[in-house]
Amino acid sequence: MLSSTQELLETAQRHKYAIGAFNIYNLEGVQAVIRAAEAADSPAMLQLHPSALHYGGLPLVALCLEAAAQSRVPFSVHLDHSTSAPDIQAALEAGIRSIMADGSPLAYDQNLAFTQRMTTLAHQWGAVVEAEIGRISGTEDGLTVAEKEAKMTDPDQAVAFVEATGVDALAVTIGNVHGEYQSPPRLDFDRLARIRERLAIPLVLHGASGLPEQDISTAIQLGVCKFNVNTEVRQAYLGFLRASLCGQAYQDLLEAMGGAVAAMEQVIQEKLTLFGSVGKAYLHHSPYADMLAGAGRYGKVLPTELTRL
Ligand code: 13P
Repeated sequence: MLSSTQELLETAQRHKYAIGAFNIYNLEGVQAVIRAAEAADSPAMLQLHPSALHYGGLPLVALCLEAAAQSRVPFSVHLDHSTSAPDIQAALEAGIRSIMADGSPLAYDQNLAFTQRMTTLAHQWGAVVEAEIGRISGTEDGLTVAEKEAKMTDPDQAVAFVEATGVDALAVTIGNVHGEYQSPPRLDFDRLARIRERLAIPLVLHGASGLPEQDISTAIQLGVCKFNVNTEVRQAYLGFLRASLCGQAYQDLLEAMGGAVAAMEQVIQEKLTLFGSVGKAYLHHSPYADMLAGAGRYGKVLPTELTRL
């Protein structure tokens, strides 16, 4: 069922688990996330990086929304890492009600101004906004941020930023990176605890691929209720295709794609287990979520009080 990111994150935060938000690029990715979440009776999120939005356009957005609406577990659909006002506008018009307005590549004041503008816009559509201060290093979809450009989130600045922008969720940078960790992750949990002490809104951790179980569990205890996962799922997909194409095991495209979906599904299920969301779908069956399931088809602007639960 199509739920709202606000409802998913707040319920997860209250019950001390986290929602897995998985980057998808095509039908196979969507199938893998939906099947894994349904098998695990878990809520989850489908998210589109801007590169995927440009690649798949409105048909890909419609696919995500329809698959989420038809799923028997709660889902929301999210635009990840958008630095572009036109992309955010297009995503909202296409029915997405959860966006990341990512001004983190900008200087603080510009990030603040961009995020304020995008939050005002998104809230008019009844959408939920995630933003980031600090800057995460690593590589995602061809964009690399060097380690020396990375910047940890400052707790005091985080408070001022959230108050000034009115964002609904904050992505924190505490030593997490996009892509593969070149050395064992060393997350700054003291920093996370200081942010949590000052901020009640849901906290998000990007770069969840490669994070060990203990780090994930500590992050959840300290208020993280959304983890973004891309690299490990993508690697499972590409690894399967590479192996099957080299071995020429498949003649049939659907059979080959089925194998790729299964490979991704396995990684996603492992992540849902680590995030503690397995078996938690029932917690999200609020009357509001049921109303959304009935009324919340994409393309319709829902009343703010419904979509921003
Ligand atoms: P990974 O690719 O490291 O899993 O990070 C994904 C992410 O943070 C998407 O926003």
